[in-house]
Amino acid sequence: MSVQLNRRDFLKKSTLATFGVTLLPSLLKASPSDRLRIAHIGLGGMGNNHVKWFAALPDVEIVALCDVDQDHLNGTLKTLKALNPDTKATTYSDFRHILDRNDIDAITCATPDHWHAQIATMAFQSGKDVYGEKPLSYDVGEGQMMLKHLNKHDRIFQLGTQIHATDNYHRVVEIIQSGAIGKVHTVRLWKTGFSPGLGHPQPQTPPPTLNWDMWLGPAPYADYFPERCHVTYRHFLDYSGGVFADFWCHIADVVWWSIQPKGLKSISARGGKTDGVADAPKWLDADFEFDNLKIFWTTEPPNVPGAADRGIGAYFEGDKGTLICDYSTRSITINGETVEDIPEIPRTLPRSPGHQQNFVDAVKSRKQPESNLAYAREMTLPMHLALTSWRLGRKLNWNPKKEKFKKDKEANQYLSRKPRKKWDLV
Ligand SMILES: NC(=O)c1ccc[n+]([C@@H]2O[C@H](COP(=O)([O-])OP(=O)(O)OC[C@H]3O[C@@H](n4cnc5c(N)ncnc54)[C@H](O)[C@@H]3O)[C@@H](O)[C@H]2O)c1
Repeated sequence: MSVQLNRRDFLKKSTLATFGVTLLPSLLKASPSDRLRIAHIGLGGMGNNHVKWFAALPDVEIVALCDVDQDHLNGTLKTLKALNPDTKATTYSDFRHILDRNDIDAITCATPDHWHAQIATMAFQSGKDVYGEKPLSYDVGEGQMMLKHLNKHDRIFQLGTQIHATDNYHRVVEIIQSGAIGKVHTVRLWKTGFSPGLGHPQPQTPPPTLNWDMWLGPAPYADYFPERCHVTYRHFLDYSGGVFADFWCHIADVVWWSIQPKGLKSISARGGKTDGVADAPKWLDADFEFDNLKIFWTTEPPNVPGAADRGIGAYFEGDKGTLICDYSTRSITINGETVEDIPEIPRTLPRSPGHQQNFVDAVKSRKQPESNLAYAREMTLPMHLALTSWRLGRKLNWNPKKEKFKKDKEANQYLSRKPRKKWDLV
């Protein structure tokens, strides 16, 4: 099949269209307790983790692998064969072949960010559930599109924020929600480290094993050089948003889970530019004003006790005390006394059997997981808006009901990018 087909053309030629319906593979199965038949799309650093994690689950069978880079595809198949010598997984360079199969229940997607939304949306349309990597989408419009199609096709989605499953995050949420530190009025988030500039590489011919046009997909066409592609693509605004966009979800998760910030009013971001070809912010600091809550994101740790020791973290300021945490540690300070835990606070949240098992359980029970799409979208949205504020170099006012900047045509243009025509598949 030509990779230039759009989704409509593809469906015309596919078995789905032969039957004249969008098939719902898991509904065609005899029993929801069957082993989940899963396909992994995007087989770089994180995609290989997906394969290892899901291969270790007893109720999952990996039936297909897909990457636009033949080397990555071959390498991951080798890894899978080492984990499971009996595997019959088939390999594809075009994910639409996976969506066309009606014997596949779910996909995971660990492509670069600019592909997340189209792949997930088309997976929903073809009746598949999705474990999708963070950040949820490339922009606000894509998140809206994903949610619309998830609901329309009654699918399950879980964001790949595996730190959500840790005991530490569960405990932080229980402590904050118990009211032990009182009403939280301010949260400080940070992640140290600069996005690199990546020098000034010259365009090259893409390797013959890589389908560069499809790697670019919905992003604008750009000449190939290795820095623009695997792993370091995250430092280019056409595909992602640098260190800030990379880490926002992981630490914002514990804030959205514990206090569900509502009523975002304004966003004011500032930052630096790199000295190289990569155009994501070298560093970015942002102030977010919600109803009754302020969130500050910084690249340097804030000047509060315990922050300097943590490369990433959240510092909750309540009217009775404070709590600082990172992925695996926390400490609570009330009336000048600092402790790791308050045993009297009951453990009210069920612990996770593992983030990937959570997804499998959600698929089988047809109940959305905690890191579901609606939740992930609300948590991710301020990240997109901060990037826009940084690009425009000014404070922006937000209407949370309309999900638009207030009377700001210039800023609203950044809410939704038109996909490159050839790759506008949904
Ligand atoms: N949850 C986490 O902690 C975590 C950690 C790392 C990365 N991630 C996320 O995972 C995603 C991938 O990151 P990475 O570091 O693995 O990047 P990577 O560059 O190592 O891997 C991306 C892979 O996707 C492939 N790809 C690109 N377009 C494709 C397409 N249309 N179809 C199939 N394959 C395609 C690439 O060829 C590459 O093999 C990113 O969105 C990133 O934010 C999450």
